[in-house]
Amino acid sequence: MQMRITIYGTLGILLLSGGVTSLAQSGADTYKAKCAMCHAADGSGNTPAGKAMKANPFNSPDVVKMSDAELIAVVTDGKAKMPGYKGKLTDAQIKDVVAYIRTLQKK
Ligand code: HEC
Repeated sequence: MQMRITIYGTLGILLLSGGVTSLAQSGADTYKAKCAMCHAADGSGNTPAGKAMKANPFNSPDVVKMSDAELIAVVTDGKAKMPGYKGKLTDAQIKDVVAYIRTLQKK
């Protein structure tokens, strides 16, 4: 009995700490690793690749008014020169990275 409690307790703490770090980091980390080379660290699209492909700044009205579902669809399936990330990122990672884009829009 005592043993069980310890095992569940340890598992719970591991799950909890894992969950918290992924919420705090993975959207930003994914963005920096996969997206910033075109969209720029601040989401402005102000990079050589972003300018050449005409990536809109994320804080432009057209992008701000898109729903989370629409942004998730663009990241999953791609749009024009924007590559799709289906199979390269998990659904959860795509959701996190879209949540991170929302924080860039507020800057
Ligand atoms: C190779 C360059 C490139 C990379 C890498 C890239 N994008 Fe894009 N992205 C674009 C371009 C270009 C567009 C504009 C597409 C259009 O509307 O013609 C775009 C559009 C978007 C849009 C929709 C906004 C709009 O302007 O319609 C979102 C959201 C987005 N990208 C997110 C991401 C995320 C998240 C990643 C990383 C997982 C990423 N992009 C990686 C080039 C890129």
